[in-house]
Amino acid sequence: MILTDDERRMLEGEQGPAVQKAMELLVRYAEALGAERFVDTNNVCGANILTPSMMRHFKSHDEAFSKMSLDSDETVEIPQVKVFSCQLIGPMDREQWEVQGVSREFYEGTMESMDYNARHGIHLMNTCTPYQVGNVPVKGEHCAWMESSAVVYINSVLGARTNVEGRESTAAAMLTGKIPYWGYHLDENRFGTHLIEVEFDVESNMDWGMLGYFVGEMVEDKVPVLNGIRHVPDLLRLKHFGAAAASSGGVEMYHIPGITAEARTLEEAFGPNRPRATFKYGEAERRKVYEELNSTAHDRDVDLVMIGCPHAGIEQIREVCNLLDGKKIHSNCELWVFTPSPIRKLAEQNGYLKILQDAGAKLMSDTCPAIGQFLPKGTKVVALDSAKQVHYLPAIMNVQGWFGSTADCVRAALTGRWDGGLH
Ligand code: F3S
Repeated sequence: MILTDDERRMLEGEQGPAVQKAMELLVRYAEALGAERFVDTNNVCGANILTPSMMRHFKSHDEAFSKMSLDSDETVEIPQVKVFSCQLIGPMDREQWEVQGVSREFYEGTMESMDYNARHGIHLMNTCTPYQVGNVPVKGEHCAWMESSAVVYINSVLGARTNVEGRESTAAAMLTGKIPYWGYHLDENRFGTHLIEVEFDVESNMDWGMLGYFVGEMVEDKVPVLNGIRHVPDLLRLKHFGAAAASSGGVEMYHIPGITAEARTLEEAFGPNRPRATFKYGEAERRKVYEELNSTAHDRDVDLVMIGCPHAGIEQIREVCNLLDGKKIHSNCELWVFTPSPIRKLAEQNGYLKILQDAGAKLMSDTCPAIGQFLPKGTKVVALDSAKQVHYLPAIMNVQGWFGSTADCVRAALTGRWDGGLH
């Protein structure tokens, strides 16, 4: 590997043992990837909040960070992070941990871990959508982010550059400001590889989620290019599209000519590549995806409706409030909406929190049922408006999952029954 002078000095320990351990880890990682050099980054999103059960193996947070995040045999003192760093979604809602059903011991231990991160300069965004709460990288900016739904969003919609990193590589990047220069940091890997001819008029966020799910299944981890989009999608729709494509396939980058950051035209999207394959998305494909997403559910009595995967924006919260229309959630059902905590604050200021609470719904932050692995006690059937969450939650929590529009989901919360469908 070619190292710059400052990278060599970090590796030799000039900036202390923690930075040295971080550089050692990054060099091992880069060599395993075949990267020839590092690139500077000043935008890192990782995950370093540890629960009490994870901390059981360690005597201190420095020890946990050293051994778990820096893969070090010895414990070193962890300094302040060197570059702009953010915590992604974590295991616990700081304000509503009791709703989650966690113990006081879990709450206090997890809060300690959050405080440790904050003291080290890691910003507690605690969301899978940092781009909704102020971390909006610019086109061409080299980042080091975990969380597949966020990676595909910033690569494709914003034109920033990151691979899907891990806890260790992001922790090391926070301390050094370096990340291996490979994958989606390089121009040649960002061009389209597969063409998707979209023949169905995709408009709603439900449809964008289904299209994303289809695309991920077709191209796996390659770079799809969508042709035939008639309505310009907004952040919400692209958030659902990317999250679904990243979960069914592992898509980290896509192009929609005329809309996403790096493709004004189809030719620009493919650059020097020729499409390796073309897939059509029409009525039949849409129906097949819908049936697949609903394949785990058969009981129509719904115990939980969850909105906010990826974390909801303020416009989604408003939509839920409007759909509730002053009515109460059915007594056998819960409605949980997940959003970043700054958006929760905004919802409170706008009166949406009160509307939700009056209806019997909960507005939660910092976590989600898949990451925190929690559900209301006795939950067997959930209804979701997220293709990503319906892909994961039934498998992770052993529940049935219905998938439909936000309106279908809110109606299920009001009646306790699933009557959604493909319209
Ligand atoms: Fe976010 Fe949890 Fe969905 S991390 S993308 S709300 S599965």
